[in-house]
Amino acid sequence: MRLRDLSPSAALLATLLTAPELSSAFYLPGVAPTTYHAGDTVPLNVNRLTPVGSNTDGQLRSVVSFDYYHPAFHFCRPENGPEYVSESLGSILFGDRIMTSPFELKMMTNETCKTLCDAKKFDQSSAHFVNRRIAQGFALNWLVDGLPAGQLIEDEVTNTKFYSQGFALGSSDDKEMHMNNHYDILIDYHELAGEQYRVVGVIVQPSSRKTQGDGSGEGVNYQNHCGQGGPPLTLDENGETEVKFTYSVYWMPSTTAWATRWDKYLHVFDPKIHWFSLINSAVIVVFLTITVVSILLRALRKDIARYNRLDSINLDDLSGTSAVIEDGVQEDSGWKLVHGDVFRTPGSPLILSVFLGNGAQLFVMTGFTIAFALLGFLSPSNRGSLGTIMVLLYTVLGFIGGYVSARVYKSFGGERWKLNIALTPIMVPGIVFATFFLLNLFLWAKQSSGAVPFTTMLVIVGIWFLISVPLSFAGSWVGFRQPPIAPPVRTNQIPRQIPPSTTYMKPIPSMLLVGILPFGAIFVELYFIMSSIWFSKVYYMFGFLFLCYGLMIITCAAVTVLMVYFLLCSENYHWHWRAFTTAGASAGYVFLNALIYWVTKLQLGGLAGSVLYIGYSALISFLFFILTGSIGFFASWAFVQKIYGSIKID
Ligand SMILES: *[C@@H]1O[C@H](CO)[C@@H](O)[C@H](O)[C@H]1NC(C)=O
Repeated sequence: MRLRDLSPSAALLATLLTAPELSSAFYLPGVAPTTYHAGDTVPLNVNRLTPVGSNTDGQLRSVVSFDYYHPAFHFCRPENGPEYVSESLGSILFGDRIMTSPFELKMMTNETCKTLCDAKKFDQSSAHFVNRRIAQGFALNWLVDGLPAGQLIEDEVTNTKFYSQGFALGSSDDKEMHMNNHYDILIDYHELAGEQYRVVGVIVQPSSRKTQGDGSGEGVNYQNHCGQGGPPLTLDENGETEVKFTYSVYWMPSTTAWATRWDKYLHVFDPKIHWFSLINSAVIVVFLTITVVSILLRALRKDIARYNRLDSINLDDLSGTSAVIEDGVQEDSGWKLVHGDVFRTPGSPLILSVFLGNGAQLFVMTGFTIAFALLGFLSPSNRGSLGTIMVLLYTVLGFIGGYVSARVYKSFGGERWKLNIALTPIMVPGIVFATFFLLNLFLWAKQSSGAVPFTTMLVIVGIWFLISVPLSFAGSWVGFRQPPIAPPVRTNQIPRQIPPSTTYMKPIPSMLLVGILPFGAIFVELYFIMSSIWFSKVYYMFGFLFLCYGLMIITCAAVTVLMVYFLLCSENYHWHWRAFTTAGASAGYVFLNALIYWVTKLQLGGLAGSVLYIGYSALISFLFFILTGSIGFFASWAFVQKIYGSIKID
C-alpha cells in the first residue's frame, strides 16, 4: 500500500477548508514539499514525550504525555525561549504540542559533537522524575521538516527495515536508568536537479554518556563526551548530577523520493496476518448475514402468502361459500396480530429521536471521514488532519442531526417540538464535552501535555455554538416542515396485551446475542485502532477500516431486523427501543474489549492513568452505542414499514 503525501486535488481541498482567515490559526503542514539548498537551516521541532510500550514485554505503562520543556527534563531551550509552532485543531485535540528547539541543522553539512547548551544540573526530584519516565518507556518525538525522527527497526517476520516513530528517552540495565544525552542525527536527503535537496528520512541514534570533568575553565573541559566507550550517564536520586547535551548530524544521500518518504514509517507488522484475520472475520460475518437474511426472507414470504390467502378465505366465508380451511390454519397468528400496535408511539419519543438524530450525524461523519482518508486526504504528514476533519464534519453535519431528529420526532407524533430542537444539538455533544472536560482536569492535575489547553476548549465551545447549533436548528426547521413518515396501517385505540416472552427474547439475552455480531465485524480493526490511540502510532489502514465499517453496518442492520422479526412474532410490539438498545449492545462489547486490552496490554500505575483510560473508553463506547443503535433502529423501521405495507388488513 503506497501512500502519497497529498494528491493535488486533496491539497486544493485542504486549502479550501482552511480558508484564509483560519490559515494562521490552523495550518496544515506537509501540504507542499520544502526544498533546501546546501547550508540552509532545516527546522527541528520538538513534540511532547509519549509513552511507548516497553521493549521487554511490550506493555504500556502510562497514558499521559509530557511537554518537551517540562522543567524536570532540563532539555535545552532556544535562546529566546521556545515558541509554539502553529498546529491544526485536530492535532491539538489529539495532544500534539510542537515547539521550536535549539538544534541547528544545516542541509548537507556534516557536523560532529555540537554542544546544545551549558551543562544542566539535575537535582534529586528531577532525577527521580526522569528515571521514572525512563522506566515507563517514554520516547522523544522530534520533527525534522515535518518528518518524525525515528529509530531503525527490523521486522524479523517480514525481514524488512522500517522507522519507528520517536526514540527512547533513556535505557535501563539491571538496576540503573541511563538518560540519553547525546544524539546522532542521521538525515536522508534526496537530490533534485539544480543542487536542490529535500528531507526524506530522519533517524536518531541516542546514547547515554557520562559527563566527566568540569565545565568550568576556558576550553570546555568535558572529557570523552562524543567519543565511543565512555561510561553511561546515571541520574543520581540522592544528589546532584551534571548533564551536558550534545549532538552530531550526518547527511546521507537517498534515492527515496519526497512523495514516498512516509512509506517507511507506515509499517504493517506482517500484513499477511492482518489480511488473513480480516478476511476470516469478513467471511464469517458475510456468511452469517446471508444465512440470517435468507431465513428471514423465506419466513416472511411464507407469512405474507399465508396472511393474504387467509384473507381471501375470510372473504369467501363472508360471501357464503363453505370454505375448507387448508393447512390447519385457523386464524391469524404471529406478527400480523400486532398490526394495530406496531406503530404506536414508543416510550420517551423525545430522547429516542434526539439519539437517532445524533446517530445519523455520527454515521455520516464516520462515512465521510473514512472516505476522505481513503482518497489519501488524511496523510500522516498532515498532522492532526484526522481530528480536524472529524470535528469540522461533525459541526457541519449538525444540519443532518437536526433534520433526522425532527423528522423522526414528528413521525412519532411528538408535540414538544421546541424541546426536541433544543436538545438535539445539546444533549449528546454536551455529555461528550462534559466527560472530556472532567478527564482533562486529571491531565491538568498531572501537568501532562496531553491536557487540551483551555483556549482550545473555548474554541470548540465557540464552534459548537456558532456553527453546529444554528445548523442543527436549521435542520430541525426543515425536518418539521416535512410531512411525517406515515405508517402503512392504522393504530388501534386500545393497546394489546403482550404475552410473556421466552428467555432468549428477554432484553438482556437478546442484547448479548445480537450485539456480538457487529462487534465481530470490527474486532480485528479495533485492535489496531486501540494501539494507534494508546501507543501513539499513526493509523493509516483506512482500506481495512472502510471494509470493516461496511461489514459492521450490514451485520448490525441484519441481526437487528431478525431480532425485531422474532419480537413481533412473539406478539411484542415494543420494538423501537429494543431495536436501538439491542443494536447498541455491541458498544458493550467494545467497552469490554477495552477492559481486556487494559488488563493485558497496559500496566498503568496511578489512579489518574486508569481513570483516563476508562473514561475515554467509556466515551468512545457511548458514541459507538448511539451509532450502532441508530443503524439498527433505522433498518428495523424500514423493515417494519415494508412488511406491514405488504399485507392486506381489513
Ligand atoms: C556525512 O557523513 C556520512 C557518514 O560519515 C557520509 O556517508 C556522508 O556522505 C556525509 N555527507 C556529506 C554531505 O558530507
